[in-house]
Amino acid sequence: MKNDIKRWLNNEGKLFLKEIGIKREQIVLDFGCGAGHYTIPAAKVVGKKGKIYALDKDAENLAKLIKIAKSKGIKNIEIVKTSGELKIPIKDKSVDVVLLYDVLHYIDNRKKIYDEVYKVLKIGGLLSIYPKHYKLDEPLWTLTNLKLKDITKEIEAVNFYLERKTFKKLMHDDNYNKGYILNFRKKYGNF
Ligand SMILES: C[S@@+](CC[C@H](N)C(=O)[O-])C[C@H]1O[C@@H](n2cnc3c(N)ncnc32)[C@H](O)[C@@H]1O
Repeated sequence: MKNDIKRWLNNEGKLFLKEIGIKREQIVLDFGCGAGHYTIPAAKVVGKKGKIYALDKDAENLAKLIKIAKSKGIKNIEIVKTSGELKIPIKDKSVDVVLLYDVLHYIDNRKKIYDEVYKVLKIGGLLSIYPKHYKLDEPLWTLTNLKLKDITKEIEAVNFYLERKTFKKLMHDDNYNKGYILNFRKKYGNF
């Protein structure tokens, strides 16, 4: 494992996620968790009484995550392997925080994923997004023509409000990078 990732998984990722707003004993969904660069630190932040749902469609990535978690004795991660469907197989209003980190550019039907996230979050729950590959940051796939303000607008249209936008040092793939994190809160609504 690269030194950057080791440093991130051992300490810096934890500090990052605490600053983002994850707290002890919370329930977190890491949608599109990949090999767990945010799942592992999140599991440490929430502790034994908290839980992380690590959801991904890629079995290989999930296997890497399971291996790292085992090597670190982390037991509060529940793996959710999907076929890529956007329906989230988790109980409504049961999650404190949802992470959508470096995954939004994969998704065609973003309205569907926002609605699904809305359903599983508790009222006042936190939706934290690391939008990568949008118009001003190595544009790719579905976010190619969108600016941050466009992404913000489409999320605020489905009963969330933008609480905070920060520019931070973070982990992208296997390397340190810098990027914007958008934190939204779920408003009271129909679910
Ligand atoms: C670039 S990686 C980011 C991983 C992790 N969130 C991070 O920031 O390190 C994107 C991940 O999202 C997953 N993914 C993409 N679309 C998905 C979908 N519809 N359902 C579940 N996982 C998805 C991919 O399999 C991949 O593991």
